[in-house]
Amino acid sequence: MSTNIPFNRAIKIAPSILSADFANFGAECEAIEAQGCDWVHVDVMDGHFVPNITFGPQTCAAIRPHVKTVMDVHLMIAPVDPYIEAFANAGADIITAHVEAGPHLDRTLQAIRAAGCKAGVALNPATPAEAIGYVLDRIDLVCVMTVNPGFGGQSFIEAMVPKVARLREMIDDREIHIEIDGGVTPETAPLVAAAGADVLVAGSAVFKGGSVSNPGVYGDNIRAIRQTAEHAQGATRPAA
Ligand code: DX5
Ligand code: ZN
Repeated sequence: MSTNIPFNRAIKIAPSILSADFANFGAECEAIEAQGCDWVHVDVMDGHFVPNITFGPQTCAAIRPHVKTVMDVHLMIAPVDPYIEAFANAGADIITAHVEAGPHLDRTLQAIRAAGCKAGVALNPATPAEAIGYVLDRIDLVCVMTVNPGFGGQSFIEAMVPKVARLREMIDDREIHIEIDGGVTPETAPLVAAAGADVLVAGSAVFKGGSVSNPGVYGDNIRAIRQTAEHAQGATRPAA
């Protein structure tokens, strides 16, 4: 269901519902959108590609009516291809597959776009930026994992910052988002924004201290990340 997502490199905050109340996803999505998030990041885990299990296409379909912005589905699963149609039918706007999830990434990315979604590719920390050198024209987003996938609340891996800069160089003027996933906080966001990232996934840093009955905290947390990231992005923007 890829709504026509107009492309720009403005900083976008995409809270990960991995850190939300699993018994109340609909209300949580409405709360973070009301508090100013740009996208909703949905972390799908299969207990095989990563050592954790979250949810599948049925949960995404249940969440969809509560997401008015962009449903950004991150598939931490292997294999990917057999499930693309199910997540597209569940209403995903963006489907991101891991480079490491299988041997035929180009075919997987083509299948995601053929299903009507924007195509994303995710890189685990040990995977070099060059791994996607031959699929740049097949993608709309690259997700740089700044933690080892599977759990929220982990520490940001600072060694990933040069990878962000390398990807920014490789992408050049193509309309491809650089998304950061893992350990994003008001302290780490400026590092990746300065290096060229524009979409910031944050789970614990958005949901901590707040709730559906106290959603203002979500808004404060989103603003805190956005402010430091925008300041860093602006500081590195070439002079007009
Ligand atoms: C890793 C997950 C997490 C999550 C963000 O598998 O993808 O990175 O989205 O979690 P925080 O923001 O708490 O690190
Ligand atoms: Zn994710």
